[in-house]
Amino acid sequence: MNAVTRVPGHASADQATVDRLARGEPTAWRNPARTARVTEGECAAIATAGARMERFAPELARLFFALRATGGHVESPLLPGDALAGAVGFPGNPASLFIKADHLLPVAGSVKARGGSHAVLEIAERIAGPGMHADAQAMRRECVHHEISVGSTGNLGLSIGLFAAALGFRTVVHMSSHAKAWKQALLREQGVRVVEHAGDYSEALASARLHAAGLPRHHFIDDEASEPLLYGYATAAAELASQLAAAGRTVDRGHPLFVYLPCGVGGAPAGISLGLNAIFGRNVHCFYVEPTEAPCMVLALIHGSTERSIYDIGLSGLTTADGLAVPRASALAAAVASRTAAGMFTVRDATLLSDLQRVYQASGLRLEPSATAGFEGARHATDQAVAAYLEAIDMPASPGDATHVVWATGGASVPDREFAELLAQPSHSS
Ligand SMILES: Cc1ncc(COP(=O)(O)O)c(C=O)c1O
Repeated sequence: MNAVTRVPGHASADQATVDRLARGEPTAWRNPARTARVTEGECAAIATAGARMERFAPELARLFFALRATGGHVESPLLPGDALAGAVGFPGNPASLFIKADHLLPVAGSVKARGGSHAVLEIAERIAGPGMHADAQAMRRECVHHEISVGSTGNLGLSIGLFAAALGFRTVVHMSSHAKAWKQALLREQGVRVVEHAGDYSEALASARLHAAGLPRHHFIDDEASEPLLYGYATAAAELASQLAAAGRTVDRGHPLFVYLPCGVGGAPAGISLGLNAIFGRNVHCFYVEPTEAPCMVLALIHGSTERSIYDIGLSGLTTADGLAVPRASALAAAVASRTAAGMFTVRDATLLSDLQRVYQASGLRLEPSATAGFEGARHATDQAVAAYLEAIDMPASPGDATHVVWATGGASVPDREFAELLAQPSHSS
């Protein structure tokens, strides 16, 4: 298991943070161990993932109608956030707020799409051999003899199920008891075999891993340990960098970039922050946001290991943010996050719901509860807090010159009836 760097000298502050987390209170934590270091090997792996997605783009455009407009690229728009800044209580200049709209990612409609599609393509290429990316029929002839399995709270299963099916694979998705019924139904509709587990997400993943071990022609994509997933997520960074440049936003020492990412097992935010640190170094500041009942990543970073789970501090893991309902962080993601994440916030379910409702009312964007977590981070960005943070890390800059990106991570596949229920739910947040 990858060890997370242990941070000496912060014991009492960290204990106060753990006490606060244990009380289920919204919490903020800055990562004192962040170095922004990305290895040459990691840069090369991100470039390899980007090149693979590029290589397959023409075939993907042929296989998926939804990918024709983007020429087979699994990418999402960067939207101006000024219209909803007031509604979500963003305290900075509305023009500095942007929404990375991964809920609109074609085919799978969530942040898990880049990682999931890349992990499937990596397997397909390994099976069919190099050069086959240009011939989907030949690739299918090989892939139909293989099965892919994955543990998922829903969106990863959807992403992998849809891309794998298009290439001819059979797909099995193992889901925890927290998974939403409509996500299971959607997966089944797409021809994916769903195996339900009585326990939580970590347990579902462990049984999935056990089930897959030793099966012939079977490929388990491990949400806690898959590098192809991680590097697939990381390709989002280059996409964001060119979109920010096109929007006229400079990112440098005097113009810091703040990014707010919902965090479950940690693969997606860790991959994205790895990619962003590779491009922008210490000028980007990635904050992860977790539900107050499932703050597995902040616990892992404070303890320097993923051994302890949220149950050890008396939390339930129960949250309406099903994609983030994870009791124990991925060790691979935690090791990356310890170097590349600037800090963590936790957020109550009621706040997620009220953000979902306010975002929809202000801008018509349809998000799912997990996908609204980033707004909690952006709300912390008062001029005073940004100035104090930049001062603390010895990178003073004017808060007014910062750019803030909230990562909206999913929601496009929420059925109309489910979304209407989310809009009607009472939310009592500040
Ligand atoms: C909508 C949404 N946002 C964020 C995440 C978090 O991704 P990860 O579990 O890789 O941290 C998930 C995970 O499934 C998700 O479904």
